[in-house]
Amino acid sequence: MPEKLKQARARTEKLRALIHHHDYLYYVLDAPEISDAAYDSLFQELRRLEKEHPELVTPESPTQRVSGAPVAAFGVVQHPVPLLSLGNVFNHDELIAWQERISRLVPGEELDYVCELKYDGLAVALVYENGVFARGATRGDGEQGEDVTPNLRTIKSIPLRLNGDPPQADVPPRFEVRGEVYFPKQEFERLNAERAERGEPLYANPRNTAAGSLRQLDPRVTASRPLNIYVYALGWAEGFAPATHWEVLEWLAALGFRTSSLNRWAGSLDKVEDFYKEWLEKHEDLPYGTDGIVVKVNSLDVQRHLGVVGREPRWSVAYKFPAEQAVTRLLDIGINVGRTGSLNPFAILEPVQVSGVTVKMATLHNEDDIRRKDLRIGDLVVVQRAGEVVPQVLRPVIEARTGSERPFEMPKTCPVCGGEVVRPEGEAMARCTNSTCPAQLLELVSHFVGRAGMDVEGVGYALVQQLIKTGLVTNVADIFFLTREDLLRLERMGEKSAQNVLSSIEASRHRPLHRVIAALGIRHVGSETAEALARYFGVIDKLASASLEELTAVADVGPVVAQSIFTWFQQESNRRVVQKLKEGGVRMESRGIGTGPEALGTQLPWSGLEFVVTGRLESMSRGQAEARIKAMGGKATESLTRRTSYLVVGADPGSKMDRARQLETHTVDEAEFLRLLREAEQQTGAG
Ligand code: IVH
Repeated sequence: MPEKLKQARARTEKLRALIHHHDYLYYVLDAPEISDAAYDSLFQELRRLEKEHPELVTPESPTQRVSGAPVAAFGVVQHPVPLLSLGNVFNHDELIAWQERISRLVPGEELDYVCELKYDGLAVALVYENGVFARGATRGDGEQGEDVTPNLRTIKSIPLRLNGDPPQADVPPRFEVRGEVYFPKQEFERLNAERAERGEPLYANPRNTAAGSLRQLDPRVTASRPLNIYVYALGWAEGFAPATHWEVLEWLAALGFRTSSLNRWAGSLDKVEDFYKEWLEKHEDLPYGTDGIVVKVNSLDVQRHLGVVGREPRWSVAYKFPAEQAVTRLLDIGINVGRTGSLNPFAILEPVQVSGVTVKMATLHNEDDIRRKDLRIGDLVVVQRAGEVVPQVLRPVIEARTGSERPFEMPKTCPVCGGEVVRPEGEAMARCTNSTCPAQLLELVSHFVGRAGMDVEGVGYALVQQLIKTGLVTNVADIFFLTREDLLRLERMGEKSAQNVLSSIEASRHRPLHRVIAALGIRHVGSETAEALARYFGVIDKLASASLEELTAVADVGPVVAQSIFTWFQQESNRRVVQKLKEGGVRMESRGIGTGPEALGTQLPWSGLEFVVTGRLESMSRGQAEARIKAMGGKATESLTRRTSYLVVGADPGSKMDRARQLETHTVDEAEFLRLLREAEQQTGAG
């Protein structure tokens, strides 16, 4: 090896060890020893050396946390030792009953315990091979999880290699640790505040957001989320036989895993109760969500002896914190008007503290829900926050009624525009019938410019609000007539932002027809139906003048949807909007002419055919297969029905095969599917 390379190798190894050490101090122990700037310069030096000598890059190098291309789907991981769930207890008596039950199974044994917090996130299993992080998976159903290794690698407190240089000789060659990945509370609030600012829907709670973040197909997205982990168990280990759980936790910490400093050994059940009481008081102050404590029998021998019933170990139990509730006054019931005119009632509450946040509002779902709970304006009510952002009203305190409370009446006219309100039979929601209602307009225009619609970047809720308030936008088409001068008159709008907005609007003029149709906000017409309509009619005018029969002829469109589309295009105001969109330069046709009645059969080879893909294909991802089916005019669906024309069967197909036999569906293997696909693509000139 040339001298220069030798030196570079020695230096990269040294740098990696240093960075690993400082990562450990910073992310695991929360006790950094060097400045960010000093750390950065180590990192930059390593980056530079690896760039000069790519042959020196190793998978566990700290520069390789975010690496690898997005995947089409996650692989399945079989857990050699299943990940269990936990039984719950809710009070001291139930805790004692649990102890009595297990004590009978190990007579004469003095039990001691380990107390941990029950983190509110999702369980993962991390496999280490020869001291290096090899593979990580979600819990899944406990038996099988998803391989999310590239995403887990982005979590800085997960060691890519174990502590010690070289890693300790007595470490088992292969072992699996388990822990909980979570989304810190404060970062969650911040993320939601940003989403609210942009007019995007809010995430429900940190737990779902952690799961969603970890299940991203692109690891760069996961890397942008502030996920963290507490490790709490050893799944299995080759040639390692610790005696107690406490010993396991200490061992894991020594190897560099992030274990909680709040874990506590308890010599008796009274000590367990003390731990519970302490954290019942203080758990809201922790920077992550917890919903109780976990009690584990310390001796691993006793654990094995006690064993598992169903999916729950006898040797451990979750002692849950009660969901936080508070009593406050229901001052009034307000109404929000949604995009489709739905009137959504919400509770206006006397401000009260629940789980550390001030609650002033709560959801009330719909009229029937309010009746069922017999909520009356002026009632004292019990509100509860169980992880969600928006709390719920559980029930009124009937004993506290004075007689001055009054029942809720859904308004007969829209609180925003005064339009007539109707509640169609069989529906839970009352609706404002005036399609020019300003509240509907705000929701409608936001939808129109949003991701599910024309995707006009940089035009969010707040800007739409301003545009409507200033009268610049009175219908969705007005967007395409905005000028630089119009925009510059708005608050907080500079030359540069105005330019950006105008160029996003310009880009959106060229969106395909199905996006325009989806953007119009016709009830029951989501992106899939919009795609089917665009494919069938090809140009907006044909769709606009289609009869009910013609509409129902489109695959995917039933009588209710057809009626909704028909009525929408009957309305004069809507026709004017379509006309104006055209005048505003919006492209209103598909590339082809459509597969509708005149063109049917001649346009695209697979029109009218429905495909279901099951199992794994070797030559392409499921998404790619579906895209190519659609490009040939076919429909790719999830579920097998009598209408399914072909079932494409990849590797490990699963239960769909049984159903296919029942329905006598025509099945093709991958090779046959590829042949058909090539044939179709050649016909259209796409191949
Ligand atoms: S131990 C013994 N320890 O709770 C089998 N689990 O309800 C359970 N959890 O899937 C694993 N904090 O996601 C354990 N300190 C902790 C935990 C914990 C949270 C979760 C874990 C598990 C679920 C079971």
